[in-house]
Amino acid sequence: MVPGFTEDQTMSEVIKEAWAIQAESMNQWVFACLMAAGMDPVDAKLVARSLVQTSLWGIDSHGVARVPHYLKRIQAGSIDPKPQIQVHRTGPCTAQVDGGHGHGIVICHRAMEEAIAMAKENGLGAVGVGNSSHCGAIGLYGRQAASQGLVALALTHSDAFVAPYGGRAKFLGTNPICLAVPSSNALEPICVDMATSAVSWNRVENARRENQPLEKGWALDQHGSPTTDPHAVGCLLPLAAYKGYALAFLIDLFCGPLNAMPYGPRIPAMYGDYAQQRRLGSFMMALDPKRFAGGATLASTAVAMAAEARRQPPAFDGAEILVPGDPEYRCEKIRRRSGIPIEPGQWKEIREWSQRMKVEAPTKVNNNEARPMEI
Ligand SMILES: NC(=O)c1ccc[n+]([C@@H]2O[C@H](COP(=O)([O-])OP(=O)(O)OC[C@H]3O[C@@H](n4cnc5c(N)ncnc54)[C@H](O)[C@@H]3O)[C@@H](O)[C@H]2O)c1
Repeated sequence: MVPGFTEDQTMSEVIKEAWAIQAESMNQWVFACLMAAGMDPVDAKLVARSLVQTSLWGIDSHGVARVPHYLKRIQAGSIDPKPQIQVHRTGPCTAQVDGGHGHGIVICHRAMEEAIAMAKENGLGAVGVGNSSHCGAIGLYGRQAASQGLVALALTHSDAFVAPYGGRAKFLGTNPICLAVPSSNALEPICVDMATSAVSWNRVENARRENQPLEKGWALDQHGSPTTDPHAVGCLLPLAAYKGYALAFLIDLFCGPLNAMPYGPRIPAMYGDYAQQRRLGSFMMALDPKRFAGGATLASTAVAMAAEARRQPPAFDGAEILVPGDPEYRCEKIRRRSGIPIEPGQWKEIREWSQRMKVEAPTKVNNNEARPMEI
């Protein structure tokens, strides 16, 4: 248990005050920091937009909170701010991308762009990625393809944080998966984007930063005992026991060995030596639904199916049925109005990095509607 908090305290009880930064102000700050770090303006714009979008979706583990991490890695030399990204077509529907150790968000967008181009030309595009770095929320890339009317699969892996099912020491990454299907509303595809661990590691990082407890069932300590203290975590648990473990194992093979990159415990640590290149891989796939019998009506059927699911009887009074993607689109509507919530430790980091990079800090406003969705 974290000192100062009871085990049953919820996030809203722990956070007494809510502060927020409007999306545009945050976007300008992230862009300015990345430019000061030496990134190409087009790439800095893409990364800033992607991180702000991720935060607008409510994914506080993988949005603007990670800016200090990326800046540290650029400064230490393991992320090349102006990488030579090479795209090699290996067949009509396949390509291999060498990311040149650039920013993972830039590399994965480029890889999905290639998958989209092949899917439009030949029905299917599958792209392996190597020599990359942390690429943020994998849902960015699934939605990139779905917004162009394509069905998408996006995978990436991380260094070892998660125990294999039945184990008590970390072996696999939090290896996330995204599956996306276009809907008639191009801005809101049906999209699942999640880690295959009980929780993503960056939520633990945020909890450490704010000194807040974790939920039960997420982690074990160094001795293999359950813990809610973020500072005592030895490893995370897989999502849904052996099912998450099995998915993570296969995702690692798709992202690491398939792209001649390392797997699990052999991947350089995200929070380890900042000068060491990560050598991460990813896998991006897009396919044209019109090549399949139901393709012409898929987008409208997806919307109808979602509406039908939401009308199903709730399990208990007050329960609400959602479909994948709903929480993110709802959160975005609120945060576009009220801003992106900023926690005290995060605000301290923003001020410190503004000074270090010699950029103006964004404007912080008090706004209770903008409470964090998660740690
Ligand atoms: N790049 C990396 O190395 C890496 C590693 C791990 C995780 N991540 C990212 O971390 C982020 C968070 O992952 P997470 O596992 O904490 O996500 P999560 O547990 O919050 O799950 C999110 C997914 O579940 C869906 N969902 C939530 N509630 C739902 C409901 N009631 N009904 C239907 N669907 C619902 C959401 O729409 C979303 O697709 C993701 O964006 C992921 O890509 C990245």
